[in-house]
Amino acid sequence: MTSLELREINKNYGAYHALRGIDLSVAQGEFIVMVGPSGCGKSTLLKSIAGLEQISSGQILINGRDVSRQEPGDRGIAMVFQSYALYPHMTVAENMGFGLRMAKRPKAEIEAAVARAAKILRITDQLDKRPKQLSGGQRQRVAIGRAITRSPEVFLFDEPLSNLDAALRTQMRVELSSLHAELGATMVYVTHDQVEAMTMASRIVVLNQGVIEQVGSPLELYRNPDNLFVAGFLGAPRMNFLGVTVDAVSGRNVTVSAPGLVPVTVELAEAAALPKGAGLTLGVRPENISMVADGGEGGAIHGQVRLVEHLGRETILYVDAGNLRTIASESGTGNITVQLSYVAPFGPEQNVALKLDARELYLFSSDGGRTLSARKTILDR
Ligand SMILES: Nc1ncnc2c1ncn2[C@@H]1O[C@H](COP(=O)(O)OP(=O)(O)OP(=O)(O)O)[C@@H](O)[C@H]1O
Ligand SMILES: [Mg+2]
Repeated sequence: MTSLELREINKNYGAYHALRGIDLSVAQGEFIVMVGPSGCGKSTLLKSIAGLEQISSGQILINGRDVSRQEPGDRGIAMVFQSYALYPHMTVAENMGFGLRMAKRPKAEIEAAVARAAKILRITDQLDKRPKQLSGGQRQRVAIGRAITRSPEVFLFDEPLSNLDAALRTQMRVELSSLHAELGATMVYVTHDQVEAMTMASRIVVLNQGVIEQVGSPLELYRNPDNLFVAGFLGAPRMNFLGVTVDAVSGRNVTVSAPGLVPVTVELAEAAALPKGAGLTLGVRPENISMVADGGEGGAIHGQVRLVEHLGRETILYVDAGNLRTIASESGTGNITVQLSYVAPFGPEQNVALKLDARELYLFSSDGGRTLSARKTILDR
């Protein structure tokens, strides 16, 4: 059953077109995670669904009802913000029951709803405290509790964990996922955190400049990005992009190369007319590159280690690949990021050879960055 439906949503702030034709259908109980660069319109979209912003055109349906022109309180949604926005003079219980009190619900109903939410969130022993007597994680739970007590049809979360430290974030992430499983509610969740997006989402929506770039399960998007933007946005450290030219095409196989890159062959999704010499972008994720000390033999790319980051379980290396043309890399032009899943014995200024995993290469068109390479398999979970 469709719980939330967005049809051709447009939002203008004066001349600025913040949302452009957003279409999205969310099934009952789905956990949708929305990601995208700062300013792409994530908060605007959530606020539009909540009714805190008026959309310029389009329709918003919640469980089949058109709520596009309804007041926020009548839409059946609850929104949790990054800043918890708790009332400092009210106790935890009063904060959590606030929405129901405003709706003039009977006292017994409010108390029952608060008690139930507190139990789910494990803050029953905090109900008489005031917000300033709570830790950041507890405050965030109160803010979520305030949403739960209203039994909304759809929960909206705008970066709810970004004020918390790393350990608390991880804990709250797991708690939110169990909360979702327990309530079976539809949730739309905005985050900048890759791990949250990959682990919590039933589907991820990638937004860019007010447009949806792609919607799909986390692994679908990671393995089969529709375009260079999605490929570069999901994954940290991000995918390496190299400017290459076509050497030869044989059926669905295309061989590309570049100065500083020995020719590699990539399978295309479909046979395409790619003239010899045509410019394309080759993509390879840092974890799909292996590294050996350079003996002059083998390897697709030769370079010099510039920086090593030891993370314990893995090593991130930034390699200066000379005149190889890299595009928009994290560490500047001419640099390749490599991620090795062991404590790698390489040091700065060491000459190394890089091997690219031939099965894990992506090719993108130079116009618009459409993915041209064949889809990768996804292991069913
Ligand atoms: N009230 C407003 N008036 C004019 N422009 C606005 C208004 N609110 C947002 N915008 C613009 O709309 C665009 C989208 O803003 P929005 O807050 O939705 O971005 P976001 O994706 O949530 O970014 P972030 O990740 O930084 O929170 C931005 O360019 C912003 O400057
Ligand atoms: Mg925002």
